[in-house]
Amino acid sequence: MDEFLGYVYLVGAGPGDPDLLTLKALRAIEAADALVYDRLVAPEILDLAPRGAARICVGKRPKHHPIPQEDINLLLIRLARSGRKVVRLKGGDPLIFGRGSEEAMALKKSGIAFEIIPGITAAQGCAAALKTPLTHRGLASSVRYITGHCRHDQDLDFDWAGLADPETTLVVYMGLANIGEICRRLLAQGLPAATPVLAVSNGTKRGQHSLLTTLSDAAADARAEAFGGPVLFIIGRVAALAAELGNLEDYALAKKIALAVS
Ligand SMILES: C[S@@+](CC[C@H](N)C(=O)[O-])C[C@H]1O[C@@H](n2cnc3c(N)ncnc32)[C@H](O)[C@@H]1O
Repeated sequence: MDEFLGYVYLVGAGPGDPDLLTLKALRAIEAADALVYDRLVAPEILDLAPRGAARICVGKRPKHHPIPQEDINLLLIRLARSGRKVVRLKGGDPLIFGRGSEEAMALKKSGIAFEIIPGITAAQGCAAALKTPLTHRGLASSVRYITGHCRHDQDLDFDWAGLADPETTLVVYMGLANIGEICRRLLAQGLPAATPVLAVSNGTKRGQHSLLTTLSDAAADARAEAFGGPVLFIIGRVAALAAELGNLEDYALAKKIALAVS
């Protein structure tokens, strides 16, 4: 078979709610011969593929790498070379903390045609689900996405002085294990202890759960909450709006926080 017949779509499946898929992603999934998917992709999204499509889970659990990245790359190449239309489904957006670019490089090197279909990243999905803006006039003029977990569990080596900007919203992906360290570093650089922190687990999914806290209490509160599922932290003054615009019950706490950082 002609080795260039196959094609790979690197597709963002969004943060969980299947209704947040793009139409382009839906069309690619509906036409797929093979789905190679991550653990965070909702079963309802996998069900959109044709019955006969192969479904291969290459999911990674935190601190576990059941299938090394190189093997996932080789799998995509092998499936494409067998003439299949392959959909590589990743949670959120494939190019935000998703290793989509590593897979794209491997495909390019092997001469496999591919396309990237963006998805709604967890930051946007969770922010919208909690009716919390990531920027807001007078509160935050920029937003930064950072990872709370580095390769091989190395230390978080960030420009902490640059990150501790009261006008910037920080969105921390994969930060549950290191949220204490992250908050400590930001406090040490002068961010107020009352800076609001919104923690969201399973954002946009049925088990969505959120917690509004502060920079000084976030680590203890997150530990006490014993979150299940992926957790995202939104740190910054905008987080206090979650109570005003959204459904958080602790409106009084939000008001107190908002006053303290205004
Ligand atoms: C490996 S990163 C993948 C990010 C993904 N590519 C994206 O654009 O959203 C996984 C991290 O994303 C965050 N995340 C993904 N989906 C989430 C959700 N539904 N609710 C909360 N956090 C989520 C969590 O911080 C999780 O540890």
